[in-house]
Amino acid sequence: MAVPPRQQERKLDVVDARSAALVRANFRSIVEAPHGPERLISAFYGHLFAENPGLRDLFAPTMDMQAKRLTTAIQFVIDHLEDWDRAQRFLEQLARDHRKYGVEAAHYDAAGRAMLAAFRTYHGPEYWHRGLEEGWRDVCILISASMAIGANSDKSQPYWEATVVGHRRVLDDLAIVRLQSETPIPYQAGQYVPVSIPQRPKMWRYLSPAIPTNPYGEIEFHVRKVRTGWVSPAVVSETEVGDKWLIAGPLGGLHVERDSGRDVLMIGSGTGIAPLRAQLIEMGRRGMNPRVHFFIGGRYPCDLYDVENMWQLSLSNPWLTVIPVCENESNPWWHPYPPVDPPFGMHRRLIGNLGAVVASFGAWADRQIQISGSARMIADTRRALMAVGTPDWAISADPV
Ligand SMILES: Cc1cc2nc3c(=O)[nH]c(=O)nc-3n(C[C@H](O)[C@H](O)[C@H](O)COP(=O)(O)OP(=O)(O)OC[C@H]3O[C@@H](n4cnc5c(N)ncnc54)[C@H](O)[C@@H]3O)c2cc1C
Ligand code: HEM
Repeated sequence: MAVPPRQQERKLDVVDARSAALVRANFRSIVEAPHGPERLISAFYGHLFAENPGLRDLFAPTMDMQAKRLTTAIQFVIDHLEDWDRAQRFLEQLARDHRKYGVEAAHYDAAGRAMLAAFRTYHGPEYWHRGLEEGWRDVCILISASMAIGANSDKSQPYWEATVVGHRRVLDDLAIVRLQSETPIPYQAGQYVPVSIPQRPKMWRYLSPAIPTNPYGEIEFHVRKVRTGWVSPAVVSETEVGDKWLIAGPLGGLHVERDSGRDVLMIGSGTGIAPLRAQLIEMGRRGMNPRVHFFIGGRYPCDLYDVENMWQLSLSNPWLTVIPVCENESNPWWHPYPPVDPPFGMHRRLIGNLGAVVASFGAWADRQIQISGSARMIADTRRALMAVGTPDWAISADPV
């Protein structure tokens, strides 16, 4: 059978079994060594910037998370040498995302050379041998070639500019930011987007739009301040109307399968409600929907900052049931207002740990389940559900 031209052009030879085993064992020794990943990645950037000093400008001043991110990416690639299509798809997507940093296809040759040089430098001439040279050379060529293909494969704009048109601090540490872009940003409700703000240039962070995309280019984010963070405190405390934000292409796949015949369970806490809320608003525009139970959690009643809007949505959409859950019955002493009572006919607040409360109703095994919140909340809730018999495959969550 003739291979279609696109496939021919993408075909790359992967490394042989002996080299694969060698680079895997070698990479394990680096990852397990004290500060091994930091030493390797610092050598990578040392070689890259020595050869191309201009590339340093593409990065933010702090690069402290890079060792972890790059080693995770390399690990994924060498774990999938026998399933190369998957590794290649990952690298192509990574390179498409890299366009927002200003990285072009032509840069990846230098990245491949710098990576190989970094492995050599890491080990030094006493330990480095021909087998390692050949194995890592093949892997580095595969990475740089796949990323160059990815960078070339997408000619759409790498990001959009949007202007802040509203900034409301709904809690001391939480702001709702509304923006408008010239052209609508093409995301699906439930996805998340990389965002860069003028107060912290080049420090891209993921945020989940809290409303569906619309023809007016309006977009809304709910942002909670992470006290030790770089970007979120600036969003909450320093953002002003008129600021220009950059928003890159969407990622993630939280969505409701409308034709699966299965009802929906959504569990969100804090600003994790954003991608769930966007989907519910979109579903509200359609006539027919599966039944949805939406558990909204927080530590205190005041943390359920958007529950009133969700109650309103459920009043006009009988398929939606909103159940607030708090760990504490009343607000903390520093919050000036008493908790808001639910309107007539709405569920009263349940008190307890969110995962435990949801699991106390049973396994929800016939549902499509989405969990959204901090990494810890997702793990705790998943564990609580699985303990009562929920199958893992029924649960979706973003990789936070
Ligand atoms: C898929 C996805 C969607 C997201 N959507 C949203 C959203 O809609 N709204 C929103 O506010 N945030 C969202 N986030 C989180 C956001 O991307 C940032 O990670 C967060 O705002 C912190 O960024 P920062 O620059 O302030 O902190 P950083 O400078 O990145 O981190 C500083 C330090 O704080 C730690 N840290 C980071 N996050 C937390 C945390 N949550 N709790 C405790 N410690 C932390 C880091 O490990 C690091 O040590 C999302 C993240 C992902 C992966
Ligand atoms: C010349 C080539 C490259 C340049 C200029 C470049 C540039 C960048 C920049 C500017 C960032 C953002 C850093 C931050 O958020 O602080 C980044 C992130 C990242 N890079 Fe690269 N990169 C290159 C090659 C590579 C290669 C070859 C890999 C993989 C093997 C890689 C993997 C990653 C990963 C996993 C991240 C974090 C995820 C992300 O934010 O998209 N990069 N890169």
